[in-house]
Amino acid sequence: MKITKICCIGAGYVGGPTMAVIAQKCPHIQVTVVDLNEERISAWNDENTDNIPIYEPGLDTIVAEARGRNLFFSTEVDKAIDEAQIIFISVNTPTKTYGKGKGMAADLKYIELCARQIARVAKSNKIVVEKSTLPVRTAEAIKSILDTTGNGVQFQILSNPEFLAEGTAVQDLLSPDRILIGGDTTEEGQKAIQALVDVYSNWVSPEKILTTNVWSSELSKLTANAFLAQRISSINAMSELCEKTGADVNEVARAIGMDSRIGPKFLKASVGFGGSCFQKDILNLVYIAKSYGLNEVADYWEQVIIMNDHQKRRFSNNIVQTLYNTVADKKIAFLGWAFKKDTNDTRESAAIYVADDLINEQAKIAVYDPKVSRKKMVNDLNYLETRAAEENERSIFTFENPYLSCENAHAIAILTEWDEFVNYDWQRIYDGMQKPAFVFDGRNILNKEKLEAIGFVYQAIGS
Ligand code: NAD
Ligand code: UDX
Repeated sequence: MKITKICCIGAGYVGGPTMAVIAQKCPHIQVTVVDLNEERISAWNDENTDNIPIYEPGLDTIVAEARGRNLFFSTEVDKAIDEAQIIFISVNTPTKTYGKGKGMAADLKYIELCARQIARVAKSNKIVVEKSTLPVRTAEAIKSILDTTGNGVQFQILSNPEFLAEGTAVQDLLSPDRILIGGDTTEEGQKAIQALVDVYSNWVSPEKILTTNVWSSELSKLTANAFLAQRISSINAMSELCEKTGADVNEVARAIGMDSRIGPKFLKASVGFGGSCFQKDILNLVYIAKSYGLNEVADYWEQVIIMNDHQKRRFSNNIVQTLYNTVADKKIAFLGWAFKKDTNDTRESAAIYVADDLINEQAKIAVYDPKVSRKKMVNDLNYLETRAAEENERSIFTFENPYLSCENAHAIAILTEWDEFVNYDWQRIYDGMQKPAFVFDGRNILNKEKLEAIGFVYQAIGS
């Protein structure tokens, strides 16, 4: 089948960049990204590509090149479904906040809505691609909805999980480590797989395109995220032991990373991992394991989350303890709010939890982040429902200038590893602060000797 029209439901952090790259690399395919969120779609259509809703290095250029040529953003979901041969589902699958599986299972209501809408609208055969991260065996549910509520047309369901990381999304999409496509073993299933392989083959070499059965593909995505997060929790666990023993976690990470069986990546100790994926996907994995009665498997993976929560709490506790056991009415400057550098995404960012703890201790938080708006920060805190929204408004101060956010502060906490933080005039910052001037480096990015020479009391993670 020659593919000329693709649609993607969900114009978020995955749908937007993924489709932009497909459109750029496949000028012969018309790619339409649809979303219910009108504000988001109009931001994607903003003439000035600086205003597209997602900040990712390089994304604005790709959107500028393809948009209006063969890349379209729209709220007309039915029309896009009707016209497309391949429909990607890239909607959010957050942790359930109600009912059975609350706080653990993935909430599949948006996925089901998409399946029902596709079934209602489709009048010709379609390939439906799971791009969202889903519990293993979700394809079965999607197929059942499509086949029983559809118009008698044929549907093939593929699993094609996305492995991009935020902040490097464009690079990851242009040169992926692998593309994973799971499909039915039937002849029709294999044809559908081939159609999607042909799309990716426009820029990805064949040996990097892996095809499997649907269940392996669905489960591989949860497994990859669990393994990645586990490395961070493992090094963070060692960071606490390093602090007690005089070992330095950066040196330990380097030493073990040179073992080719371990490898050097994803061994950076930190204030704790954030982002929309790791916690959600591991909780989902734990829930799935429990639902099959695999309690040891569930407990094993749950420790990754327990360790991460501990690491975030340990960071805020240490700030309070070091500041003479009280931060009440003290100004604590936060450098960074995003969950990692080069993104404006704040979902599950460690900064939110550290701020929440410190506000409980009546601290005033003065935040500077180059890409995150005040509105987002306050919303993030409100989402925790720890206190009234007005109190969050009163406890958070935001600055467009890092030097102002640090002025008169009792301490600085580095929550995100933005490159620009390293090159600040730290002498100037020191001069403007209360003394002793403390720096709690939750990302281990600053130079200890240099800061101590200026006069700071400097504490890193794991040394
Ligand atoms: P997101 O919240 O940024 O975007 C999802 C979009 O889907 C929203 O704009 C929402 O309005 C839209 N939507 C929901 N239901 C809809 C419907 N019925 N019709 C039309 N639009 C609808 O989420 P995201 O970060 O892009 O993640 C999407 C999926 O991809 C999730 O399953 C996530 O686990 C997975 N994933 C995310 C990342 C990442 O880095 N963010 C990486 C890999 C995989
Ligand atoms: C992750 C996966 O990497 C990606 O493959 C998947 O598709 C989505 O989830 P993302 O959450 O965007 O991507 O970013 P990632 O680079 O994995 O970082 C996640 C969190 O871990 C961040 O808070 C980051 O700061 C933290 N981290 C990462 C560490 O603390 N130490 C490390 O060594 C690496």
